[in-house]
Amino acid sequence: MNLDIIILAAGQGARMRSVLPKVLHPLGGRPLLAHVLETARRFDKAKLHVVVGHGGDRVRDAFPDPAIHWVTQEQQLGTGHAVAQVLPRVPNDHAVLVMYGDVPLIRKETLGALQEIAMENQVGLLTAELDDPAGYGRILRAADGSIVGSVEEKDATDEQCKIREVNTGFVAAPAGDLRNWVNSLDNNNTQGEYYLTDIIARAVTDGTKVCGVTTRDRNEVLGVNTRAQLATLERGYQLRQAMACMEDGVTLIDPDRFDLRGRMVAGQDVVIDVNAVLEGEITLGDRVHIGPNCVLRNITAGDDVTILANCVLEEATIGNASRIGPFSRIRPETHLAENTRVGNFVEIKNSVIANGSKVNHLSYIGDTTVGRDVNIGAGTITCNYDGANKHRTVIGDDVFIGSDTQLIAPVTVADGATIGAGSIITTDAPAGELTLSRVPQETRKGWKRPVKKK
Ligand code: UD1
Ligand code: MG
Repeated sequence: MNLDIIILAAGQGARMRSVLPKVLHPLGGRPLLAHVLETARRFDKAKLHVVVGHGGDRVRDAFPDPAIHWVTQEQQLGTGHAVAQVLPRVPNDHAVLVMYGDVPLIRKETLGALQEIAMENQVGLLTAELDDPAGYGRILRAADGSIVGSVEEKDATDEQCKIREVNTGFVAAPAGDLRNWVNSLDNNNTQGEYYLTDIIARAVTDGTKVCGVTTRDRNEVLGVNTRAQLATLERGYQLRQAMACMEDGVTLIDPDRFDLRGRMVAGQDVVIDVNAVLEGEITLGDRVHIGPNCVLRNITAGDDVTILANCVLEEATIGNASRIGPFSRIRPETHLAENTRVGNFVEIKNSVIANGSKVNHLSYIGDTTVGRDVNIGAGTITCNYDGANKHRTVIGDDVFIGSDTQLIAPVTVADGATIGAGSIITTDAPAGELTLSRVPQETRKGWKRPVKKK
């Protein structure tokens, strides 16, 4: 039986109080809907339909995937009405699985169980026991334990509100039956909406069995309706990722203070200290050590790299056994080769630094090529910007740049050159020589310090 997956994402998300459509709010650095789609795509041959309405264009633009079949629900008249917008395109002999765009952590394995029930011409409904079921629809069961309906909290009696088994919204059913039930929905309820959840009672009346599948992992079924719920879910998601990293052999000093907003591939015996924020694609070699309070975005680091506390690194590659920080800033298009050292209060941008070179203190290196075994003294600045254009600085191998040097680009310092401290270098410095520009030192004999007037 073919499978069609319908993802509901048309709601405004009024309780978020945001101009951003709810399903575009990020969880772990990616929109809520991206998580749902990723799980849906794991059903290989399924056709994906996404129902959009509020901010529909923005949602569509965020997912330029030709495999998605977008359906617009002009007016948000309820989850049942949303499903009805898609059903005309689904043949009767298919199975349908409904997912909610605001419930991002659902697992494929759980949904697979629902799908199998639908394949047997029954209704598969995912339920969960929550300590705090507030806001969710409640599952109604008969004396024999069979599911007979689902009631929205706003329509529930006080007695029904005490039920802790909730409707997660995930449901699978044969398309033909689903069509009949959805067509028979009405909106005679507190919210005046066509509830998809009312199909449960319709199925039971029709004599179709409703099989409940229960999950113990509450994160899986938590929906995002408010920013507080989004924050709760973010923690749940991060903890899930932290556990996976640790299972893969990464040491996290505190999994509660670890944020991966993207993907990480890590070698053996990597250690990540507290408050790391890792974004985009992160690739770490063996024995990499990341100190506390570091932010890394799209970084590739080789083996034995050490990043000390409080560094911010973006779009860079770092060669084996290099050491960075504390308090370093590495900006995009920076490539550090092996055994390099970048120290405190150093900023490097769009530069290549070859093996064994050091920039240890208080420097700005921008649009620069640095050779091997170079030592760049404290307070060195590459003056790369003339107010209109950027220019390159080229530093050869085995160069020594004295402290507090300004290199006015475009300029080249050839191999083996030494630049005296405090120099302003405006023209190329030749290989192997000492070059310096310095105001001669003078001493004023007998000079007296001013004294305070009485
Ligand atoms: C819904 C369920 C509730 C369940 C909960 C689980 C109904 C009536 N209620 O409530 O039983 O416990 O989810 O999280 O289904 N949507 C549309 N078009 C619409 C209305 C909603 O596409 O006209 C989409 C929303 O964008 C959202 C999803 O459907 O992604 C659920 O809608 P929401 O308003 O969040 O329903 P809940 O109140 O959470
Ligand atoms: Mg919801």
